[in-house]
Amino acid sequence: MTVTGLRVIMLGPPGAGKGTQALRLVEKLKIANISTGEMLRNEIRPGTAIGRKASEFIEKGLLVPDEVVVQIVRDRISRDDCRAGYVLDGFPRTVVQAEALDQVGVEVNHAALISVDEEKLVRRITGRRTCPSCGRVWHVDFDPCADGVHCDVCTDVELIIRKDDCEETVRRRLVEYHAKTVPVAEYYRSKGLLRVVDGNGPIDVVFCRLLEALGFVCESEE
Ligand code: AP5
Repeated sequence: MTVTGLRVIMLGPPGAGKGTQALRLVEKLKIANISTGEMLRNEIRPGTAIGRKASEFIEKGLLVPDEVVVQIVRDRISRDDCRAGYVLDGFPRTVVQAEALDQVGVEVNHAALISVDEEKLVRRITGRRTCPSCGRVWHVDFDPCADGVHCDVCTDVELIIRKDDCEETVRRRLVEYHAKTVPVAEYYRSKGLLRVVDGNGPIDVVFCRLLEALGFVCESEE
């Protein structure tokens, strides 16, 4: 399925499954995947100036300053592969960021809020394992890789635990989410663009709900 020009925002608390669902969505719709968390981690690994600044905030569970994130997103969405459409995973996370998107003329089609019972989020995050090569995430219980150690996509790469995936940092991220990102959901609700998706339940079931919320027919029902 190829969709031209669709622009979807993924909203939701840390661990809700934004990245997991974004990956499935871009594979199905053949549009670009833009994850600000992943872009920031790609700056942190080689120790760029942006990466050094970002890591100060990420490791404390705080949001990176708006001006840093807005600049990297503006650069990214101007690339050719975004013409066919894109999913923004983890951006905007503040109303200032949402307004910046409007100011550069991005017309958002849907803001999908993945909603998950809060007590499940910590378990999802502390059990997450991430491939440092392709960025694919796994879960020790809910979505395990074949041998429990290596990424099934990049077969010889060992999975890692993100530095900010400890319980204490997750709780800080949740406080940031409620203070700064919940108002973003309201921002899109007031524009008639918010689609709330129940993120409780198996990954494939949530994906079906997401597709339907965006106006597509879920494959299992086709
Ligand atoms: P980011 O990487 O975006 O982290 P996050 O928003 O906290 O979200 P997560 O990646 O933790 O969770 P997710 O919802 O993507 O869940 P996932 O699919 O992995 O950002 C990291 C940091 O960068 C931020 O804290 C901030 O500091 C900074 N940052 C990023 N963007 C920013 C911005 N715009 N402005 C300022 N700062 C910014 O799933 C989690 C786990 O659950 C996985 O193991 C997965 O396998 C499992 N799982 C997924 N779905 C299900 C399911 N349905 N059932 C069971 N398990 C599931």
